Amino acid sequence: MGIYAVTGSASGMGAASAAVLRENGHTVIGVDLHDADITADLGTAEGRRSAVQGILDASGGLLDGVAAVAGVGPAMKDAGAVAAINYFGPVALLEGLRPALARSSAGRAVVIGSNSSTTVPMIDEKLVDLLLAGDEDAARDHARSAQAALPAELGQPAPSISAYATSKFALARWVRRTAVTPSWAREGVLLNVIAPGAVITPLMLGSTGAGEEPDADDFPTPMPLGVFGRPEDIAFWVHQFLRPEARFTTGATLFVDGGTDAAMRPDAQPTALTV
Ligand code: NAI
Repeated sequence: MGIYAVTGSASGMGAASAAVLRENGHTVIGVDLHDADITADLGTAEGRRSAVQGILDASGGLLDGVAAVAGVGPAMKDAGAVAAINYFGPVALLEGLRPALARSSAGRAVVIGSNSSTTVPMIDEKLVDLLLAGDEDAARDHARSAQAALPAELGQPAPSISAYATSKFALARWVRRTAVTPSWAREGVLLNVIAPGAVITPLMLGSTGAGEEPDADDFPTPMPLGVFGRPEDIAFWVHQFLRPEARFTTGATLFVDGGTDAAMRPDAQPTALTV
């Protein structure tokens, strides 16, 4: 049986992912702001360092898998914090844990992105560049000033929607670039993204402003299956990506969104190679 770290383990998809792994007999080290084996704030450099150290101490330096699930939603007021938590949180954690994953015979990492990266028309290219360049201070400043420049009515009920979608966009791009580098791929550590759509969790209910479960047919984005996701629907795929048998997929983004991305951008994939 394996040893896995799950961030965001106190709620929603992270709690469901930890539960599936435990049901399958694995040891899970949960990380969250509260109610976790390791409490740490992944929005700060110090919190990320202490989370990595805590996981290494608890695992003895060898990990079979990491699920980087923790994140905040677009309802958070501070767009700079959204960018820092959702991008630098998982990136620093995964970079810090990569050597421990490489010590496993089948190291696996999966990151929770979002289908907002392809379905929200507010991707801030400048912020993408700052995130991928690793410039956290400049990224926070830029996210805040871009947010301040938006008309206030665009920011209801999700004042950080642009920083949110952009942080998930940059995260997916980081995964795609990173997964194929020798220090991941040739060490046998596979790295993929799950892009959920609307999944009923405290974060989702807070972001829609509805407070209670909305009607899928009245939702702002199309929901072809006519239902919202449940945390267990995401946890199922987290578990699949983390299994040792999942051995030939890396750098991929899997949409687990009830068909929203396909409905909004049916022809976006495949994209032909141009020379
Ligand atoms: P949730 O709010 O139920 O769970 C998120 C967990 O992350 C919480 O336990 C929270 O304490 C933890 N967390 C937040 N900030 C943290 C920090 N700075 N340090 C450590 N832990 C922190 O939300 P949910 O929906 O389960 O979200 C999980 C992931 O899924 C997030 O990354 C979110 O952005 C993403 N997502 C959610 C969607 C949805 O519809 N619910 C859609 C697409 C993506």
